[in-house]
Amino acid sequence: MHRELTKGVYFVGVDDNHTELFENLWDIPFGVSYNSYLIVDEKIAVIEGVKGPWADEWLDNIRELVDPSKIDYIILNHMEPDHTGSLPDIAKIAPNAKLVYTQKASAMQKSFFDLDLDEIIAEDLQELSLGSKTLQFVHAKFLHWPETMMTYIKEDEILFSCDAFGAFGALNGLHFDDEINMEIIEWEAKRYVCTIITAYFKFVQAGIKKVKDLGIGIKMIAPSHGPIYRKDPMWIVNKYDEWSGPELEKVCTIVYGSMYGFTFRVAMNLKKELEKLDVTVKMFNISYTGLSRVITETVRAGVIVLGTPTYDAFPFPKIWNFANEIQGKRYPPRPIGILGTYGWQGGGVEKITKQLADARYEILEPIVHVKGRPTEEQSAQCKSLAKVIAERLK
Ligand SMILES: Cc1cc2nc3c(=O)[nH]c(=O)nc-3n(C[C@H](O)[C@H](O)[C@H](O)COP(=O)(O)O)c2cc1C
Ligand SMILES: [Fe+2]
Ligand SMILES: [Fe+2]
Repeated sequence: MHRELTKGVYFVGVDDNHTELFENLWDIPFGVSYNSYLIVDEKIAVIEGVKGPWADEWLDNIRELVDPSKIDYIILNHMEPDHTGSLPDIAKIAPNAKLVYTQKASAMQKSFFDLDLDEIIAEDLQELSLGSKTLQFVHAKFLHWPETMMTYIKEDEILFSCDAFGAFGALNGLHFDDEINMEIIEWEAKRYVCTIITAYFKFVQAGIKKVKDLGIGIKMIAPSHGPIYRKDPMWIVNKYDEWSGPELEKVCTIVYGSMYGFTFRVAMNLKKELEKLDVTVKMFNISYTGLSRVITETVRAGVIVLGTPTYDAFPFPKIWNFANEIQGKRYPPRPIGILGTYGWQGGGVEKITKQLADARYEILEPIVHVKGRPTEEQSAQCKSLAKVIAERLK
């Protein structure tokens, strides 16, 4: 099924309502879409492909409008296989099409697929005429891969922004921002950016600045996942700007794991002490709350507290994994509190503290470390830690 964006420009992407975990990591309860766009002018261009198993559906969408063998240009904003897995299929059908992408994307294409198609290397801001419509390519490196660019139709003022401004959630026939519940879009877009793009936030900021500095008109933003923004294209730009910006929220987010409730009791104690000091607290049990939500709720939290029991001399595995995400996703600097419990020798709190301190996060004192059940002494420590956190969030 296709949808018209404007005369000669069509959505020909597909919905994925089958994959449970995006990247085999992140839960997508509403699915995801792989957006592709067809431009029918004197020349025919397709922007982005789709994930491999959806190639037939994608080609059928294109066939509703044109014979795919007549495609002149295959424009690839980025080489990640959720958008390029279908390339070998189209290469067979359209042997005369030219690939249009950045130099880095060309090298990546050769190592991923080695397609027997001609190519055009799109330099930054280079233009390509399709007849009545002119495309312009805007390099956007590391948004979120090194070879990324965006594509702009000058006459129609549509920006095909690649993964930037994307969102989780299949479209199911509702392709535009004015057709979908914006509260769901907002959460799914935020969850997308926090799980997929956090490590590249400074490139998001650079990309937004670059597009704004170009001073081009933007009537529509058509990303490679999620809805197309035509009612208010700047809404999603401003949201991405806010989510990737330097401001942290005045909130303390406690993320804990607990097998039998000892660590939970300490975490609850800290939460109560924080609330006495009027600190906004969010608290998540890592075993019950999906990692994508935990990440989304912590990326901008002014203070994060990790709670872990010791598990075979190491941190609770899911908390250890979350600490790795903080480091791997290069969470912007902010103070981190640590609490934990152990039965005999400990090790969990020590290892997680060392890892995050080595990654240059400021670890707040006191570290609340309890052998066995929480006691009076531990309550006093929670009180001190709460005071320090309240001070830091002022
Ligand atoms: C499977 C398992 C492994 C554990 N490994 C250790 C360990 O290596 N060192 C230690 O001091 N305590 C160990 N403990 C004890 C727990 O760390 C301790 O009981 C802790 O307070 C449990 O907190 P929780 O109820 O919040 O999970 C282990 C407990 C379990 C169930
Ligand atoms: Fe991507
Ligand atoms: Fe993508």
